[in-house]
Amino acid sequence: MLAKLHSIAISGIDAVPVEVELDLTGGAPFERLVGLPDKAVQESLDRVRSAIRNSEYDFPSRRLVYSLAPAELRKEGALYDLPLALVTLIASGQLEAAREGRYLVAGELALGGAVRPIRGALAAAIAASQLGFAGVVVPEENAAEARAMDGLVVAGVRDLAEAVGFFAGTWTPGPPARTEAAREPEPELCYSDMRGQEMVKRAMLVAAAGAHHCILMGPPGSGKTMAAQRLPSILPPLTVAESLETTKIHSIAGELRPGRGLMTKRPFRAPHHNASMAGLVGGGTIPRPGEISLAHNGVLFLDEAPEFPRQVLETLRQPLEDGKITISRVAGSGTFPARLLLVMSMNLCPCGARGDPRRTCRCSRNQVENYAGRVSGPLLDRIDLHVEAPPVDRDRLFRKREGVTSAELAGRVRSARKIQEARYPGRGSPVNAAMTPRDLEAHCGLDSGSESLLRAAINDYGLSARAYGRILKVARTIADLDGSERIGMDHLLEAVQYRQADRRL
Ligand SMILES: Nc1ncnc2c1ncn2[C@@H]1O[C@H](COP(=O)(O)OP(=O)(O)OP(=O)(O)O)[C@@H](O)[C@H]1O
Ligand SMILES: [Mg+2]
Repeated sequence: MLAKLHSIAISGIDAVPVEVELDLTGGAPFERLVGLPDKAVQESLDRVRSAIRNSEYDFPSRRLVYSLAPAELRKEGALYDLPLALVTLIASGQLEAAREGRYLVAGELALGGAVRPIRGALAAAIAASQLGFAGVVVPEENAAEARAMDGLVVAGVRDLAEAVGFFAGTWTPGPPARTEAAREPEPELCYSDMRGQEMVKRAMLVAAAGAHHCILMGPPGSGKTMAAQRLPSILPPLTVAESLETTKIHSIAGELRPGRGLMTKRPFRAPHHNASMAGLVGGGTIPRPGEISLAHNGVLFLDEAPEFPRQVLETLRQPLEDGKITISRVAGSGTFPARLLLVMSMNLCPCGARGDPRRTCRCSRNQVENYAGRVSGPLLDRIDLHVEAPPVDRDRLFRKREGVTSAELAGRVRSARKIQEARYPGRGSPVNAAMTPRDLEAHCGLDSGSESLLRAAINDYGLSARAYGRILKVARTIADLDGSERIGMDHLLEAVQYRQADRRL
C-alpha cells in the first residue's frame, strides 16, 4: 500500500515542496528512509515509531520504505516527523485521510506524540499559498506566523492525534491563540532619556530618515550604546512586504519565539563580538541566516566595533553595498537578504580617555592607530555618518528629562520617508541611501557655490568617489528633513561634516 503527503524543505529563505511517501508491503519487518536525509531525518524514524505507539496506534511490523523526494534536494531537521508518522498511519489503514493531497505538513514529534515547533513555518505557508495548496498542518506554536498568509487553512496541532483527527475530518483547529506581540508590549526606550548630545541625536535622526549607516565615536559612558539602542524607537514600522520577509528569515533561523505572529517592529540586532562567525554571518551544513540577515530591514548594531574579528567586519562590505549576503559552504551556497542599517560604536583609543577633555590619554600613537585601524578604511568609507559623542556635561545629568522625544523624531522621520517614497515609487527600498548613480544626477543637483564647496572638501579630506556619492545622499536626506526640494549650502555642509569626525583619530 502506498501513501503520500506533502511537506517542505528550506532552501535559502524559501520553502520548496517535498513529497513524503511510504510503500508498505508484506514480508519481514524492515524500515528504510531514502532521499538524501541527514542524521536528524534518520533519527526521525525512531521518534515516529515511539510517537505512534504512545499515541495508541500501531506501528506496522512490515516492510516499510519511506522516501523524501526530490532526492537531490538536501533536507535537514526534524520537520518530517509528522508527515512520516501520518503516512505510516495512512498506509497501514489506521487513518482514512480525506484531505491528504491538499496540505503541506511539517512538525517535529516528541516520543510521547506531542508536536514540537519547527523553523520555517511562515515560509511553508507562503509556499502553500503560491503553489495552490488549501493549507498547512503545522505545530500549534507556529500557527500564528503561518496565519499571516490570507486565504489559507492553518491547522495548528498539539499532538499526533490532532493531526490524525484533522486529516480524518473529526477534529477542527481551535480559534487562533493570542499572539505574543499582543500579550506583552515592550517598554519603549526614548531619546528624551538622553541628556544633551544634541549632535548625536541629530545624526540618529538623519540615519533613520534616509537609512544611512553610522558610527558613533567617543569616550566611555558618553551615551553611544544608549543612542544606538533608541534608534528603533524612531524608525518607521515595517511595511507588510518587509514584515513577511523579515519574519520569514527569523522563523527559518529559529529566532521567532513560539506563538509569535508577523513582526511589526524593525529588528534590532546587537550581537556580541565573541559570537561565532557562523552566528554572525550565517552558516551550517545547509546555510542558515546569521545576525547580518536577521537585521534585514532593521538595525545591526556592532557595539565596540574594533573588538569584532576583522574577518567579520570585512564580510559586511558586501551587504552594505548590495543588501544581501552570500554564504558559501561545501554543501552549497545560500544568498540571504541583508538590507540593514549599520550602527557601530567605538572609543577613540584603547584606554578610552581620548576625546574626553577631563582625562589624559596614556595610549601611544601606535596603540591608537592599531585600535582605530581595526575598523578598516574601506569599511569606514561605506559609513555615511561619522559622529562624535563627547562626554556628557555633568551639570546636565542632574536636570530633569529634557529635549526632544522619540515620538517627535519619529514624526520627522515619517515625513522625510514620505518624500522619499514619492521620489522612488515602486521600489523595494525607497530611501536616499539606496540611490543609484542616475538618481544622484536626477535628485542631487547642486548650485555652483555648493559644488565648489564639495570640490574643496573632497580635495582637502582626500575623499573617495564613493564618499562623494554618499555625501550627496546624506545631503538629500537633510534637505528632505527640512522639506526642501533643493539641496542648499547648509544641507551640504552638514553632510560633509559627518565625514570629518574620524579625522581626529
Ligand atoms: N547623555 C546621557 N544622558 C543621560 N544618561 C547618560 C547619557 N550618556 C550616558 N548616560 C548614562 O551612562 C550609561 C552608559 O552609557 P552608554 O553605555 O551609552 O555609554 P557608551 O558611550 O556606550 O560607553 P562605552 O564606550 O563604555 O561603551 C547609560 O546607561 C546612562 O545611564
Ligand atoms: Mg557602549
